[in-house]
Amino acid sequence: MKRILVIGAKGMLGRDLVEMLQSSSHHSEVIGWDLEDIDIREEENTLTKIANLRPHIVINLAAYTDVDGCELHEEKAFAINAEGVRHVALGALRCGAKIVYLSTDYIFDGKKKEPYLEIDSPNPLSVYGRSKWRGEQYAQEMVEDSLIIRTQWLYGKYGNNFVTSILRQAKEKKVLSIVNDQIGSPTYSVDLSRAISVLIHSDARGIFHVANSDLCSWYTFGQAILKLSGRVGVRVIPISSKELGRPAPRPAYSVLNTQKMKRETGMTLRPWSEALKDYLLIRDRLF
Ligand SMILES: NC(=O)c1ccc[n+]([C@@H]2O[C@H](COP(=O)([O-])OP(=O)(O)OC[C@H]3O[C@@H](n4cnc5c(N)ncnc54)[C@H](OP(=O)(O)O)[C@@H]3O)[C@@H](O)[C@H]2O)c1
Repeated sequence: MKRILVIGAKGMLGRDLVEMLQSSSHHSEVIGWDLEDIDIREEENTLTKIANLRPHIVINLAAYTDVDGCELHEEKAFAINAEGVRHVALGALRCGAKIVYLSTDYIFDGKKKEPYLEIDSPNPLSVYGRSKWRGEQYAQEMVEDSLIIRTQWLYGKYGNNFVTSILRQAKEKKVLSIVNDQIGSPTYSVDLSRAISVLIHSDARGIFHVANSDLCSWYTFGQAILKLSGRVGVRVIPISSKELGRPAPRPAYSVLNTQKMKRETGMTLRPWSEALKDYLLIRDRLF
């Protein structure tokens, strides 16, 4: 039986992924750790704890994911998103485990204008993107059997995300301003968890892009959220990223080409609009 360690297990993706791996037919032993169990900034402790557990696979989701926060706290961003990965990789190396690292579309500069391939050169615009890109490099350089999964625009049942933010704002305001000049593919964490499970159990290695199909702007995504959740009285105004004035620059176009995933596993994630419908139904039942 495979022992799988998930670090960052109490985050948005972590909760869904642990559930998915536990319910999978592969009967793995799944252990979830989060900040109260391990702080990946601490080298010796991280290394020793992982080596003592002797997992076959270590999935590192732990990250400083506040993109604007990273811009203001660069040292913290690199300590967790880059050096933290190095510590996890050292632990994996010591016990011969595979390492799986979750990365992001924000490692690209968004200038390509067509979906990014795994072999395209990263050129991150933000501290978050640079720290995650360094994390990728550590995982790849240090552990031969590494799997890097790049994804984007995540939302899920647990934790704050764009969908919860739009639904909250729609309760308070009649007019919402949403950026119209960033294009990507919103990705449901349950669908991503299923894809991660498939990749792990097919022994995939290297870099894979995984996201729900089809693309849109945040503005179009926001409109769909309001429409599908019946908030018809709320008006949406498209604005530019410049007008929003966030500290961290984002890529204008960061759609990920997911053909490699399809070629190697036969799997394509459904269109984002279908996944969103499912999510909103589940959310209505939960809250
Ligand atoms: N969200 C997205 O849109 C997106 C897009 C692309 C890629 N990703 C990547 O996907 C992964 C999961 O994202 P997510 O949205 O599920 O993130 P999340 O909800 O922020 O979860 C990350 C988890 O890691 C924990 N953590 C933070 N610092 C840690 C440390 N030093 N040691 C151990 N644990 C620590 C966090 O604990 P606290 O909450 O207590 O800090 C949190 O439970 C991340 O690697 C992220 O970079 C996310």
